[in-house]
Amino acid sequence: MAQNWTPSSWRQKPIQQVPEFPDKAALAATEAQLATFPPLVFAGEARRLKKQLASVAEGNAFLLQGGDCAESFVEHGADNIRDFFRSFLQMAVVLTYGAQLPVVKVGRIAGQFAKPRSSNIEVQGGVELPSYRGDIINGIEFSPESRIPDPERQMMAYRQSAATLNLLRAFAMGGYANLENVHRWMLGFVKDSPQGERYRKLADRISETMDFMKAIGITAENQPSLRETDFFTSHEALLLGYEEAFTRVDSTSGDWYATSGHMLWIGDRTRQLDHAHVEYFRGIKNPIGLKCGPSLQADNLIELIDALNPANEAGRLTLICRFGHDKVAENLPKLIRAVEREGKKVVWSCDPMHGNTITLNNYKTRPFDRILSEVESFFQIHRAEGTHPGGIHIEMTGKDVTECTGGARAVSAGDLQDRYHTHCDPRLNADQALELAFLLAERMKSGRDEKRMVVNG
Ligand code: TRP
Ligand code: MN
Repeated sequence: MAQNWTPSSWRQKPIQQVPEFPDKAALAATEAQLATFPPLVFAGEARRLKKQLASVAEGNAFLLQGGDCAESFVEHGADNIRDFFRSFLQMAVVLTYGAQLPVVKVGRIAGQFAKPRSSNIEVQGGVELPSYRGDIINGIEFSPESRIPDPERQMMAYRQSAATLNLLRAFAMGGYANLENVHRWMLGFVKDSPQGERYRKLADRISETMDFMKAIGITAENQPSLRETDFFTSHEALLLGYEEAFTRVDSTSGDWYATSGHMLWIGDRTRQLDHAHVEYFRGIKNPIGLKCGPSLQADNLIELIDALNPANEAGRLTLICRFGHDKVAENLPKLIRAVEREGKKVVWSCDPMHGNTITLNNYKTRPFDRILSEVESFFQIHRAEGTHPGGIHIEMTGKDVTECTGGARAVSAGDLQDRYHTHCDPRLNADQALELAFLLAERMKSGRDEKRMVVNG
């Protein structure tokens, strides 16, 4: 067990990005009550995910992590959850085929409520108020009352997370995730997409594979693995008082686990080695992520890896790289070389969203081309370094929003106002998310075909 660590030892450290709650007694009472509530996930599940991620670290699987930038209380409904899951599963099928590897499925969902902000204040029309920090902390409405941090919101976040997770578990195990359904939805997308012809070849090969399996008697009826899938949850563990309340001892191993989600990550703004967030994370046994932005130096990364994964366990640590399409070539190779030199076992994942945010017509947006370009560079760099491009981490929704520009149904700067619903950063809509999966799968497949030609030639 981590030395001199307790679930509350982070309270002795300096901390970034945490709001001042005006009523400290109310906050303490809420945290005490949360600590009595049932956990959302259990340790055995977190260990199972860690094992799957170890397989990614070893080059034998691919990680797909995605969901809302920020979940919100007003958008909590069955339709949103279902549509997200439907898009996400289609991406997973396409990537499984493209990579010819199992895809580890992790949602940014059922707990993704707290947001780090670049500024503590927001100014609108000459009025200055505290920034919105996510529904678990304060309200998005631009009024003084709504922006006061309110501990009651943590109760709401817990209940929403529990309900969301419950539905996702039902979908994952209850038949909705049946590969035959997902395959049918995917064909519908290809039929309707303006770029459908381009995706048809890959889609046809998946269809042939399904038909072949059926012909030899492998069907969803006799194969549970065709109708069920493992789905895990994750979020940025920013609000440490909430996380502490859900940090529980696993009776099987005697280890501490965060039970608010299967996997938690540390943000790029809160990864200071001697600060509270790194302190909290070093003591929990879950698989964890670390966001790596352009300011992260290679020697600093190695110190963080030593603090967070001292036993060098594969699957424990995922490095989620978010540099920007124009900065990845300059920043990623030196981190990869340092990690390789030190023999550290990590999962490399690419977040092509957060380094590619621009403002158009007063909307925060992300051009689809830049998102694709960052992922492509990420793959190329890993190929050149001889390391495994382990996965992607994206902000997406299953709805037809207009938040990111581009894609086959080219969303323009002028379209952004039509359906711009995000509570924080712009997300890929359902079509853009699936297109990204198709374009990546195409490239992974041609990479494999090249290799095969070299071997056979
Ligand atoms: N169980 C396998 C998996 O999760 C196959 C599978 C079933 C699947 N339903 C799926 C794959 C939906 C992707 C999406 O990989
Ligand atoms: Mn975001």
